[in-house]
Amino acid sequence: MSAPPLAAGNWTALCSTHDVAPGFAVKVERDGAELAVFNVDGEFFVTDDRCTHGPGSLSEGCILGDIVECDFHNGAFNIRTGAVEAPPCMVPIRTYPVRVQEGRVFIPLLPVK
Ligand code: FES
Repeated sequence: MSAPPLAAGNWTALCSTHDVAPGFAVKVERDGAELAVFNVDGEFFVTDDRCTHGPGSLSEGCILGDIVECDFHNGAFNIRTGAVEAPPCMVPIRTYPVRVQEGRVFIPLLPVK
């Protein structure tokens, strides 16, 4: 059974599924937000790109399964849930609902900053 069509105007496309190879992430800027789009074994997840501990960009981190390790101080997060997996990070990263349709990765529209 296929997913129902996305309601026009309620979701925004971030990238093509071809833009993110399995085990990698890309950074996407949308409506003033910096987001990281992850491909975990063909499943797509979106989080804030900025590490909650400092200036690290999670799309540039080391990805092991569904864990991303920030390359600044080696803190880590669960890509699926945003939960902290390793210190010095203390605050989870924000995650977003994701829909994949017609080869593109969508999240709900963000409030414009
Ligand atoms: S900036 Fe990410 S762990 Fe410190």
